[in-house]
Amino acid sequence: MALLLLLHVLLVAAAARAPAAQAWGVEGHYMVCKIADGFLTSEALAAVKALLPASANGELAEVCSWPDTERPRIRWSAPLHFADTPGDCKFSYARDCHGTKGEKDMCVVGAINNYTASLQDSSSPYNLTESLMFLSHFVGDVHQPMHCGRTSDFGGNTILVTWYNTTKTNLHKVWDDKVIQTAMNKFYNDDLSTMIKAIKLNLTEDWASEENEWAATTYPDKYAQESAELSCDAYVGVEQQSNLEDEYFFSALPVVQKRIAQGGVRLAAILNRIFSGNIRLQSS
Ligand SMILES: *[C@@H]1O[C@H](CO)[C@@H](O)[C@H](O)[C@H]1NC(C)=O
Ligand SMILES: *[C@@H]1O[C@H](CO)[C@@H](O)[C@H](O)[C@H]1NC(C)=O
Ligand SMILES: *[C@@H]1O[C@H](CO)[C@@H](O)[C@H](O)[C@H]1NC(C)=O
Ligand SMILES: *[C@@H]1O[C@H](CO)[C@@H](O)[C@H](O)[C@H]1NC(C)=O
Ligand SMILES: [Zn+2]
Repeated sequence: MALLLLLHVLLVAAAARAPAAQAWGVEGHYMVCKIADGFLTSEALAAVKALLPASANGELAEVCSWPDTERPRIRWSAPLHFADTPGDCKFSYARDCHGTKGEKDMCVVGAINNYTASLQDSSSPYNLTESLMFLSHFVGDVHQPMHCGRTSDFGGNTILVTWYNTTKTNLHKVWDDKVIQTAMNKFYNDDLSTMIKAIKLNLTEDWASEENEWAATTYPDKYAQESAELSCDAYVGVEQQSNLEDEYFFSALPVVQKRIAQGGVRLAAILNRIFSGNIRLQSS
């Protein structure tokens, strides 16, 4: 009994901490980077390819979950995946960008600045392959609304919900994975490349007029501000043990798809600026 109780306490503690370090699941990160890839200038694409590890097979998207998969080895980077807020639908760098012990700049916005500066600096002391993989991952993370969710519930991680009456999960994971997986199943033949195609097509249709404005916003505080606002909507109507299904899914899906598109467009703009000193978007 005592052992079971101890195990339970340990599991709860692990659950409370673990999710805060993740953002979009593997699919979300893959899509952000795959979309970015299509908007890189030839100069930026060549620079990216030169920095990629062999395991990427020349594809940025292949290594965009690297900071998540390497987490056990790089525990120090856990606070860099998010920037939780008090729940006032706002992000303030001075107030919110710190680690769990108050370490300044240790949040997703500080990390984007850090790795952008590293890639721009020809004498950077950091490993540039890692800088590229961190930057690409964190630009995705900051676009996931629950990454700027409330500190009190670890960005929705401690809000336990059921997804379509069947899967037990939490609000953070609904936004990381569940909405994407359900969309793939309902609309995209369980095929990630079909979903990516649909989102890319929208960039030439519904979002064509907004796209240049997204790309021009290279100030990551703005991305966190947008996510903090969106997270406030994401909490509406959700309580402990809520069952979320169609109604929630259909209101979340357009937000998820748009955030993935914005993340991709902005990652490309940042990389283009770093590697070609130019913020112009160029579709390839
Ligand atoms: C900046 O990057 C270095 C090298 O990875 C890391 O040690 C440091 O914690 C990072 N700081 C921030 C705010 O991301
Ligand atoms: C840079 O980081 C990558 C990925 O962690 C690693 O494979 C590579 O060996 C590192 N390079 C150096 C010079 O440490
Ligand atoms: C889920 O459970 C609720 C309440 O029991 C019920 O109204 C709803 O129809 C169920 N949904 C599905 C998809 O089975
Ligand atoms: C396309 O854009 C519209 C308007 O923002 C949105 O409702 C829809 O979900 C988007 N579709 C995809 C596949 O991104
Ligand atoms: Zn992450």
